[in-house]
Amino acid sequence: MSGFGKDQFVTECLTAVRAGDGVTAAVKEIVEQAVSDPSAIEAEVSARTISPMMTIWHRSDELTVLHIVWPPDVDLFAHDHNMWATIGIYGGREDNQFYRRLEDGRIEPHTGKTITQNDVITLGPDVVHSVANPTRDWTAALHVYGGEFFTTPRTMWSKETLEPMPLDVDFIRQNLEAAAARARLSDIPGERP
Ligand SMILES: [Fe+2]
Repeated sequence: MSGFGKDQFVTECLTAVRAGDGVTAAVKEIVEQAVSDPSAIEAEVSARTISPMMTIWHRSDELTVLHIVWPPDVDLFAHDHNMWATIGIYGGREDNQFYRRLEDGRIEPHTGKTITQNDVITLGPDVVHSVANPTRDWTAALHVYGGEFFTTPRTMWSKETLEPMPLDVDFIRQNLEAAAARARLSDIPGERP
């Protein structure tokens, strides 16, 4: 099948989740197939520079599917998901910093992984990561989560102290929107400081 349809994508992910065994491997394959053809996804969504930072394609107790656009020059808080996550990049770059959990609740940097166009990573439910787009280009990704991304209690960690605090999705969304506004302003000829 050629082309990409977000409804079909969600249906395929839901079918994989409901099949039971081997869910993350099956979802990874679906996301790999999708991001292998970035132009097909781009035909279905808004251009990166004008797209909302986060668009919800599906949200239920068993699955969340998000279309995420990253402005240039963003470095988001470390956070957990408390559910498996599969992230596929169809444009730009995302730097993942992974952390080790310490007994006192804080975290320390552990390993890292950079993913670029056509790459897909699967994260286990216990993973703590922070994500950054250090480039001058916009990053575009499909995110699939094995649960209710917005209401499941989650944790984020202070950049300064690495102390834990309850995760606030709206706070993260506001950070992304502010970075997007800065990036759009800097794209206007004559407006660059
Ligand atoms: Fe994440």
